[in-house]
Amino acid sequence: MKIAMVGSGYVGLVSGACFADFGHEVVCVDKDDAKIAALEKNIMPIYEPGLAELVASNVRGGRLTFSNDLGSAIKGADAIFIAVGTPSRRGDGHADLTFVYQVAREIGEKLSGPAVVVTKSTVPVGTGDAVERILTESGTPHRFAVVSNPEFLREGAAISDFKRPDRIVIGAEDEFGREVMRDVYRPLFLNKAPILFTGRRTSELIKYAGNAFLATKITFINEMADLCERVGADVQDVARGIGLDNRIGSKFLHAGPGYGGSCFPKDTLALLKTAEDFDSPVRIVEAVVKVNDSRKRAMGRKVIEALGGAEGARGKKVAMLGLTFKPNTDDMRDSPAIAIAQALDDAGVAIAAYDPEGMDLAAPMMPFVTMTGSPYEAIEGADAVVIVTEWDAFRALDLDRVKTLAKAPVLIDLRNVYDPADMAQAGFAYTGVGRG
Ligand code: UGA
Repeated sequence: MKIAMVGSGYVGLVSGACFADFGHEVVCVDKDDAKIAALEKNIMPIYEPGLAELVASNVRGGRLTFSNDLGSAIKGADAIFIAVGTPSRRGDGHADLTFVYQVAREIGEKLSGPAVVVTKSTVPVGTGDAVERILTESGTPHRFAVVSNPEFLREGAAISDFKRPDRIVIGAEDEFGREVMRDVYRPLFLNKAPILFTGRRTSELIKYAGNAFLATKITFINEMADLCERVGADVQDVARGIGLDNRIGSKFLHAGPGYGGSCFPKDTLALLKTAEDFDSPVRIVEAVVKVNDSRKRAMGRKVIEALGGAEGARGKKVAMLGLTFKPNTDDMRDSPAIAIAQALDDAGVAIAAYDPEGMDLAAPMMPFVTMTGSPYEAIEGADAVVIVTEWDAFRALDLDRVKTLAKAPVLIDLRNVYDPADMAQAGFAYTGVGRG
């Protein structure tokens, strides 16, 4: 099959490279010439484990190419994926669909044969209908169908999520759309990945409902963590105790500094906008958004508390380990580290930080932070060490070395990487999350 992937960002690039790896012929398109030129030299615009190798091997195999010319890329394509960004619109939280509609118009103008147009970007309910209208209004003489196919990739695990998905969701309104999508995903069909065919609007909503549910699960356990601290309980055990109930499930019950990233914050807001537009409030998600926002700054206060409160903290130095919103990515979008660093700076605390991949993107967001070359360099002379992101590099720190380098053996572990009893044994004043 021939596939055109319009938008060579995170989703487009991972999906394009994986489709090529299945044996399809894929062209990844982007209007950013510099990005295309870099991709042709196998320089990835994002950090994702295994992606550069996957792209290189499929380029070598002749199945994956790059182009800045949409017209030639969609020529003869059976499926044209729209995988451009849908950022939160400034001011109102609505998903900004400018790029999706621009691409739809261009596809309408340049279509040269029958094709299925697939929205892979996360788009609000009804966007597929709008894309269909745009294509109809373009007056194209060619047969087309508009299909929704949301992606469920996690950053840092995107390639395995794509190749071994829990499910594939396809929202189509006619048999032509369903038929082509069956062929596109046939290699996964053979792997027995469940494919769920739904209506287009349903499929669009599944994406938002899934992310909002996961954000709710995280926020629930975060509030339980706060309660655990008050009543003297351990949230790790609470999570295990409820997670073993199959109806609840143990995943996404890890208490921490609040969810961040490019998806949950944006998608929960967009869902609330849709709910508002259709006068059908989703109050649980409203609460989740509020609780998560306030949690990030509350984590800054937690650190200040461990430094002896506002008075004690002023003039002290903290080592922040981890800045990205989660490990195995360089993504800083809505990372709790931003609010935590800001709260510490406001309190007159000096910050040295280390992150394996995130420092280039983080530095301009927190100019008052000194970026360092290793965890130990950040820890040198620090009055407290804060683990903000659970990178593997911080899971087995040399605790004796930490104690020698730091001014005081104070560890605030916002990801519950360490065991409180072990840390007490090692002579640390340890604060976790929800470990009363
Ligand atoms: C999320 C979803 O997990 C994907 O299924 C979805 O495709 C993607 O959004 C998207 O819409 O594109 P991602 O944002 O990459 O993926 O990251 P997650 O691994 O889901 O983590 C999101 C945030 O929740 C992180 O800040 C993480 O630290 C936090 N989290 C996650 C917790 O605090 N506790 C948990 O138990 C799990």
